[in-house]
Amino acid sequence: MAIHIALAKGRIHKVVMKYLAESGYDFPTYSEESRKLIFEDAKGQLKVTLVKSPDVAVYVERGAADVGIVGKDVLIEEAPGADVYEVMDLGIGRCRMAVAGIAGKKVDMTKRITIGTKYPRIARSYFEANHHSVDIIKLNGSVELAPIVGLSDVIVDIVETGNTLKANGLEVLKYFMDFSARMICNPVSFKMKYNEIQQLMDVIREHSMKA
Ligand code: PRP
Ligand code: MG
Repeated sequence: MAIHIALAKGRIHKVVMKYLAESGYDFPTYSEESRKLIFEDAKGQLKVTLVKSPDVAVYVERGAADVGIVGKDVLIEEAPGADVYEVMDLGIGRCRMAVAGIAGKKVDMTKRITIGTKYPRIARSYFEANHHSVDIIKLNGSVELAPIVGLSDVIVDIVETGNTLKANGLEVLKYFMDFSARMICNPVSFKMKYNEIQQLMDVIREHSMKA
């Protein structure tokens, strides 16, 4: 039985496709530049779809994909109650959630501050846990712009290399959560395709351990 994997499009899908190729899976129509979104391997064992990261858990929960690979940050933010099994930490896509602001500019954290973020749920729970009342502005990307143009006081966003913050004159004020990519599985698929899914996990684990 072929397994359908929904991969978060971007950094994660590029790494996972490399792992699969190194393990002998041949996806004849795949290339990083391709605009195609569905790829099947030559032996008909795997079908891979490239999905926007917030949608990965939707595909898996509804059984449109058997497994998904997506960042834990996105799972917490977008799919906190999803009926899926989290079966594996791939150890790739490591990043940290941070509060960041304009480098060298003091932010009065005792006042009600405005936060630009793609992660309103995570941002709210962090500030609420610290008894800090905040205004959250949900953005869909390029959040580094918000404090620069005066839309918000600070941002809450993931930091991987720190290059994006630096390139835009921002700095981390506080790191508060760590994440990495996870494999999630549809509960029915997990039973019906148990052996195939275990085999896929073995293949990925072998590479993740080297990464
Ligand atoms: C993510 C994140 C940061 C950046 C962090 O943005 O929102 O901006 O990557 O990575 P770095 O620390 O290695 O620079 P992404 O490129 O996914 O784009 P988006 O925010 O516009 O969706
Ligand atoms: Mg960004």
